[in-house]
Amino acid sequence: MGMALISLALLTWLPLVPWVLGQYTAYNYGFDVGARVKRDVTQPLVVRGGGEGDLRFRQEVREMEQDQDLWTLYILGLSLLQFTDQSSPTSWYGITGIHGIPHKTWGGVGPTPGNEASGYCTHSSILFPTWHRPYLVLYEQVMYSLIQSLATWWPEGEARNRYQQASLRFRIPYWDWAANPSSGQSVLPQSVGGSPYVDVNGPSGIQRIANPLFSYSFKPLNSTAFIQAPWDYWAVTLRSPTDNSTEAQSNNSLVALNFDQNVASLSQRLYILFSNYANYSLISNNAWIPLTSNASYDSIESLHDTVHNLAGGGGLGQPNVQGGHMSYIPYSAFDPIFFLHHTMVDRIFSIWQALYPETWVVPTAAALPSYTTSKGQVQDSRTALTPFYASTDGTFWTSDTVRDHTQFGYTYAELAESSTSGPNASRNTRSQIRKAINRLYGTSSPANLFIKEMRARGSQRERRQRATRQGELNEGQVTSTSKKRRTSRLENPEANTLKGYNGVVFVGDKYREWIANIRVKKQSSAGPFSVHFFLGSVPDDPQEWAMAPSHIGTMGVFAADQTNGMPLGQLEVSGTVPLTTCLIDKVVRGELSSLEPYDVEPYLTLNLQRRLLSTSGKILDVSEVGGLHIHIISAVVRAPSSDDELPLWGQAVDHFDLD
Ligand SMILES: *[C@@H]1O[C@H](CO)[C@@H](O)[C@H](O)[C@H]1NC(C)=O
Ligand SMILES: *[C@@H]1O[C@H](CO)[C@@H](O)[C@H](O)[C@H]1NC(C)=O
Ligand SMILES: *[C@@H]1O[C@H](CO)[C@@H](O)[C@H](O)[C@H]1NC(C)=O
Ligand SMILES: *[C@@H]1O[C@H](CO)[C@@H](O)[C@H](O)[C@H]1NC(C)=O
Ligand SMILES: *[C@@H]1O[C@H](CO)[C@@H](O)[C@H](O)[C@H]1NC(C)=O
Ligand SMILES: *[C@@H]1O[C@H](CO)[C@@H](O)[C@H](O)[C@H]1NC(C)=O
Repeated sequence: MGMALISLALLTWLPLVPWVLGQYTAYNYGFDVGARVKRDVTQPLVVRGGGEGDLRFRQEVREMEQDQDLWTLYILGLSLLQFTDQSSPTSWYGITGIHGIPHKTWGGVGPTPGNEASGYCTHSSILFPTWHRPYLVLYEQVMYSLIQSLATWWPEGEARNRYQQASLRFRIPYWDWAANPSSGQSVLPQSVGGSPYVDVNGPSGIQRIANPLFSYSFKPLNSTAFIQAPWDYWAVTLRSPTDNSTEAQSNNSLVALNFDQNVASLSQRLYILFSNYANYSLISNNAWIPLTSNASYDSIESLHDTVHNLAGGGGLGQPNVQGGHMSYIPYSAFDPIFFLHHTMVDRIFSIWQALYPETWVVPTAAALPSYTTSKGQVQDSRTALTPFYASTDGTFWTSDTVRDHTQFGYTYAELAESSTSGPNASRNTRSQIRKAINRLYGTSSPANLFIKEMRARGSQRERRQRATRQGELNEGQVTSTSKKRRTSRLENPEANTLKGYNGVVFVGDKYREWIANIRVKKQSSAGPFSVHFFLGSVPDDPQEWAMAPSHIGTMGVFAADQTNGMPLGQLEVSGTVPLTTCLIDKVVRGELSSLEPYDVEPYLTLNLQRRLLSTSGKILDVSEVGGLHIHIISAVVRAPSSDDELPLWGQAVDHFDLD
């Protein structure tokens, strides 16, 4: 690979003219900002993080918004980055362009022969979580450095001191799309989807500027690099575009609706990944591995794919309209929501690493090419994560060397007590982490009902011992649901405590989880698509899906369009849509008698439906996607008896095929 180490002389600035995003522009500081920004003259640009070794939290974006000074710096910093000349490798365009389009050499790290038409990002790869880590750190480092400069632009005195203090706290925020937001709020933060402009109180007072979290407007759009329509004429990044025209607008209310409808499903998937995935090979990426346990179809990457497709819009609710940038791998990184999403992905990865410190990258053939990887090439824990330099001597970061994220000066609140996420994370830390997982993501799981009840009874140990005596997990059936008990339960629909569920959902401390496993070829002739699941009737018009009460979950297949970007081969990917929460809801409504196979199998056979929707807004026939397999599995799960434990999963039982 080419190692010509170019100078990354940074940050030349665009003149302050109003760009395409309506009349909104950058902040006017009253001086030429380019001249005042600290320049990083290191050659090559070494990725090391912000904060010079000081360990700080990356915060949830809504939490960061409460810290007013820090928030102001974040918005102004992001705006500055987006108004930096696109030819700079550390402009918004330069950094986000590493991922996919424009398929251009960055930092002097040239392509390997035959892979010129790819981005650097690794997908469906053992390196998916580790490659994106230094990528985020690079972005964090550039933002941190900008924000240090910015803080000095307030007039000397109390204000400047305050902003300089705040600037040290800066780490990039994440967007938690799996946690239930406070009541009345959408999963999609108002700051991200609410408005194309924002009023910001900067060094020269309050000004209205283009909201840098709402959209990126290309300055200008390079229609040669953005080979295909509509990418070669959409001059701003879009989510759920209103139409295909050059005038298309984002419909963030629709995006918000789609997230709100899917949050229970996303959160169940995350909870199950934390509880029941102990193997890095399986959790790291979406490539389907033949002979894998039927309880391991999901992955961090597959969950991440679904979020991409929901954020792009994927044709949902807008028939025959192309999905937005987030739905397409080569264009996704330009949308400002990309880094918020990927910081969440890194957080999931870091928390998971602390729970399962032993398992790691093992040599695995790349299923897809990247700019520096050929398809089939074996990748291992020492594979260079290009183009991210670890040192001026030209060494790149590797999975092994990025394993401990704390060296980059950031961590997450859930890992507060841990000095490292590596093998040395303490047991105490792990119990704190499990508590946080139960609090944040356990609410959609029956496990949480059980914990609550146990707490109410205050006799955890006794209960647990009794339950354990009732039989080992993998012996199969949760039995003893007597007809009589069920009847009395259903006569009292108000009862939604464990007592009410006893014998219907729980027997002792066990219950049964139900999951739809999906396996499909990543490359469809229709480009990226999503598999949508419904319990009950499906509205004909996808425009009504976001509001349909029968919609229970989505698995997104995130890809490139077929003629552009990364070649996709015949790769098979897998993912899941959990069914348990919806089934319990049916039990509560008296439409289903129990979670046992003799009740659930006939119920699902009759009511479970799937639809395929391409991100260009077309309902697809099964023949238009390659090799779709959907099968329904269940597993007996032992609920945790205290809030610092996670559920314990038994073996998966295979029930029936939907496709
Ligand atoms: C636009 O993209 C083409 C193709 O990638 C490239 O050759 C050209 O240099 C780009 N133009 C600018 C102004 O960056
Ligand atoms: C955005 O989506 C919502 C929800 O589907 C819809 O009611 C509204 O009309 C859409 N707005 C535009 C401008 O298309
Ligand atoms: C993890 O899963 C992979 C793929 O199925 C398998 O080859 C490997 O042996 C597993 N590792 C462990 C420690 O079980
Ligand atoms: C997984 O399910 C499939 C049916 O979809 C079945 O043929 C296979 O035997 C199951 N695998 C295991 C390991 O149970
Ligand atoms: C919009 O673009 C998509 C994808 O190219 C295409 O399938 C659809 O027919 C177009 N719709 C209209 C109304 O032009
Ligand atoms: C973990 O602890 C061992 C033994 O105390 C030590 O040798 C090692 O360097 C530590 N590893 C990390 C990553 O801190």
